[in-house]
Order: sequence, then C-alpha cells, then structure tokens
Amino acid sequence: LDESLLEGKRVLISAGPTQESLDPVRYITNHSSGKQGYAIAKAAKRMGAEVTLVSGPVHLPIPEGVKPVFVTSAQEMFTAMKEESVQADYIIMAAAVADYRPAVAAQDKIKKTGEDLVLKMVRNPDILAWIGQHKAPNQIVCGFAMETRDLDQNAREKMIKKNCDLLIANNLKTPGAGFQTDTNVVTIMTQDHLEHLPKIAKEDLGVLILKTMKEIEKER
Ligand code: PMT
Repeated sequence: LDESLLEGKRVLISAGPTQESLDPVRYITNHSSGKQGYAIAKAAKRMGAEVTLVSGPVHLPIPEGVKPVFVTSAQEMFTAMKEESVQADYIIMAAAVADYRPAVAAQDKIKKTGEDLVLKMVRNPDILAWIGQHKAPNQIVCGFAMETRDLDQNAREKMIKKNCDLLIANNLKTPGAGFQTDTNVVTIMTQDHLEHLPKIAKEDLGVLILKTMKEIEKER
C-alpha cells in the first residue's frame, strides 16, 4: 500500500444509518452498521489523506487520526455534509440515508389507542444528489447503491441521476455483501466502465475506491 498516495488530499466520507424520530421514545432506521464507511475512512487515513467521517449512530470506534462529525437524522447528515464538502477533494457517500422521515416528530410519547396508527412520512433531502449537483470541477464524488434486484441497471441510473464520478453497487441478497458483514460484493462503475468484483474485505474495497478516484482525477 502506498502510504503517500493521498498526501494533501482531503477525503470526506459518510457512514452508518440515520435515525428518524417519531417521538421521544421511537425512531425509524435501517440495518447499516457503519462498517463500510468506517473501513473506507481507515483506508484513506492509511493512504495519507486528511479524513473527515460524518457518522450516523453506530457502535464502532473512530479510526485513529480521523475527524468525526456525529449526526442522527438525515437532515443533520445533510447539514454536516454540505458544510464539510466545501473543503473536500474526494467525497464518498457510504451511509444508508433514510429516504423518508415521519412528517411530525411528536413532542411527547405517542399514546396507544384502540385504533390502528397511520403514519405520514415525508421525503428527506437526497444528500448525494445535492453534492453531485454542487460539486466543484476539482471534486470527485463516489456514491453507493443498495439494491435487491436489477443491480447494474438501477445503479447506473442512480449514478447518472446523482451526477457521481464513481458508483459502488451492492446487492443486499448476495451472501457476504451489504449490511453488517466485514466483506462486500460489489459492482464498481464509472461513466465508461463497469466491473463485477469478487468478495472483498470492506477496507480493501476502500483502498480500491480511493485508487480509482485518484485515477479519475489524473485523467481529467
Ligand atoms: O454500514 P454497513 O453495515 O457496513 O453496510 C454498508 C452499506 C450496505 C450501508 C453500504 O455498502 C451501502 O450500500 N450504502 C448506501 C446505502 C443506500 O442508502 O443506498 P441507496 O441506493 O438507497 O442510495 C444511493 C446513494 O444515495 C447512496 O450513496 C446514499 O448514501 C445516497 N443517499 C440516499 C438517500 C438520501 N436521502 N440521500 C443520499 O445521499
């Protein structure tokens, strides 16, 4: 591993799930452990970068030398990413952001009644799409895509829609891929290239992503 490959580069990574509050007691979330995003942060640090990690609520230690920014909801993650992205060279969105949140977060605990409870959910901002729209000419943006079917096609659509330079697609149903595992099985795609990778440790995938971002930057 070239420990100076990313010297002078500022890398911003998001990791983990978001929690969307219903009331002071309850929230809606997903199964992200943060392992993928934290592993990329560790790889970036090992490669000599200055690393900021915007993290949803997870149970992992912050890798040594990495600057953490802790958030809970998608809206908080959006605010943090907008702020931190101003000074980033490479931006990687590995977080599993909730697309919807409860329309109201009740001030007090929601009481049970004899009736069913119907929840209204409203859209959260799409953080990656915002970053893609606002990226500076020198910035390289990598998105992830979590799919359960038609992986390559759905992922390519996301890459184009969200204006990413690079996209990492994983299928939740593939053994050894996605949530909570120490490995991932992914398709890596750029505007003109697509590759199916065999199972790989999440940190090694981090190294590969960062090397690819460096290549994209060189070719500009
Ligand atoms: O944390 P682990 O347990 O290690 O699991 C890793 C992972 C499965 C969470 C990771 O590999 C992964 O796939 N992350 C992206 C999950 C996801 O939200 O995928 P998506 O296809 O719904 O979103 C596409 C992209 O848009 C992602 O980069 C996502 O961060 C981003 N997004 C999505 C919704 C939203 N409101 N804002 C966003 O920025």
